[in-house]
Amino acid sequence: MFDFTPVDAGRWIAASGIVASYAAFCWHQFRQSRRGAKAPITQGVATDTEPILIVYASQSGQAEAIAKQTAQALSADNRQIHLRRIEEDWQAEASAARCVLFVVSTYGEGSAPDHALRFVQANLDAGIQAKLQGIRYGLLALGDRSYPAFCAFGRQLDAWLQASGARPQFERIEVDRLDAEALSSWQQQLSTLSENAPSSWTAETQDYSPWQFVERQCLNAGSPGSPIFLVVLQAISDDTPQWQAGDLVDILVPQGDGYPRAYSIANLPTDGRIELIVRKHIRDNGQTGLASGWLTEHAQVGDQMELKIRSNPGFHLQHDISRPLMLIGSGAGIAGLRAHLQARAKAIEESGNPAPQRNAWLFFGERSGRHDHLCKLEIEEWKRSQVLTKVDMSFSRDDPVTPYVQHNLLARSKEVCEWIESGAQILICGNAKKMAPGIDKALRSILGSQQVDLLMASGRIRRDVF
Ligand SMILES: Cc1cc2nc3c(=O)[nH]c(=O)nc-3n(C[C@H](O)[C@H](O)[C@H](O)COP(=O)(O)OP(=O)(O)OC[C@H]3O[C@@H](n4cnc5c(N)ncnc54)[C@H](O)[C@@H]3O)c2cc1C
Ligand SMILES: Cc1cc2nc3c(=O)[nH]c(=O)nc-3n(C[C@H](O)[C@H](O)[C@H](O)COP(=O)(O)O)c2cc1C
Repeated sequence: MFDFTPVDAGRWIAASGIVASYAAFCWHQFRQSRRGAKAPITQGVATDTEPILIVYASQSGQAEAIAKQTAQALSADNRQIHLRRIEEDWQAEASAARCVLFVVSTYGEGSAPDHALRFVQANLDAGIQAKLQGIRYGLLALGDRSYPAFCAFGRQLDAWLQASGARPQFERIEVDRLDAEALSSWQQQLSTLSENAPSSWTAETQDYSPWQFVERQCLNAGSPGSPIFLVVLQAISDDTPQWQAGDLVDILVPQGDGYPRAYSIANLPTDGRIELIVRKHIRDNGQTGLASGWLTEHAQVGDQMELKIRSNPGFHLQHDISRPLMLIGSGAGIAGLRAHLQARAKAIEESGNPAPQRNAWLFFGERSGRHDHLCKLEIEEWKRSQVLTKVDMSFSRDDPVTPYVQHNLLARSKEVCEWIESGAQILICGNAKKMAPGIDKALRSILGSQQVDLLMASGRIRRDVF
């Protein structure tokens, strides 16, 4: 069975920025490794006829993109490749495959990505080992060293695999903010599984492309918080860029530190322009953040930056307008919700149905109602046109009773339950440190923990939190 199409792969490769300049190096290293390299931890390597199983867990699309790119690289010699999300039933396939590659990221505070919740609960948290004796695996753990629990989920998974009897084909590779060196080590290991891997891996290198700054508009003049801007960018190439609601951009600003910053795309690709909603970040030492500072303060009309559109399947949604939708967010999180509201408005328009059952409920929070009512006119228009049927705003500086979105959710518990019972989906976008845990706690108190876990696992709750 082969469930990975080369067409998809090409798109993924083009969309994920991986280490072209390391290709020659990798090939050289591969040759060297063939001549007398360090022995793999487990004896023997997969033969060219054995299928390879690739299992991934990804919150914001990077691990998923690398897993797909890995599948593409390994499929070069007509080997069977199976690509699975970690919560899928891959364990039986693992025994047949004999070589399993894991690509997983860490999110929250050392947690697994949302879609991995069911797998984590049933295996790691429950302390239940699988029967993986005789299976060899490789593990690529994505993370960011600025978080205290660096690659925590990757490490946890590694320990569980070994406790389950699986043996590493090579040592776990940990990736800090997609660092090229770690990714080239991964490529090098792939080359021991497939002779053709390095050359196909390097076939596509076009990931970032030049975009220009078009305009910015302050959305919260006079706010007691840091300023938030609508920022408009335009592609320089003639290609018409494509994306869908929920997707992200990675931006490398001029004279930056070489690390891209992610932003949630706030619009649909109607005229090829990307709109972002960016909060000017102020560091603890009072300095302005590098990328947000450039976008909200320094960039002049026509200034160029390198930009890559990143597919973020974990925050995609099939807009079925007959199904209730709850959108919950705060601050710059209005960005991801705005793109989805535009998608819903488009779906309603295209349905041609003047009076469908189309409940959509926005919970949004910021500090001051007078200054921070982000996208106020658009929200009013969506209410008028019934794209939104209910709106609950929380302004922490104005309202001591329901200061934050989670308080508004709790205050409307009964209705929230009814919406969920009638099939509502939930999109959450915004602050990961305070807002997301607050919403999680409120939903668990309203719906019960088990139901929230089920909603997360089935993708009825989808999050873009940062
Ligand atoms: C999936 C995702 C989606 C996102 N969507 C949005 C969005 O829609 N809107 C939005 O406004 N933001 C969004 N963000 C956040 C955004 O990516 C940036 O993190 C944010 O704009 C701050 O970046 P910056 O370059 O301005 O700040 P930085 O310069 O990176 O500073 C941020 C922090 O990094 C540390 N730091 C980094 N470099 C240094 C240094 N040289 N010295 C000292 N400290 C340093 C400090 O702790 C500092 O407070 C998103 C993030 C993710 C992951
Ligand atoms: C809100 C948030 C929380 C994160 N928490 C951690 C963490 O605890 N440990 C870590 O190593 N990396 C952490 N990261 C970094 C991600 O693992 C890293 O960006 C990774 O490349 C994301 O891959 P994905 O897009 O496949 O999810 C976090 C990133 C975000 C945005």
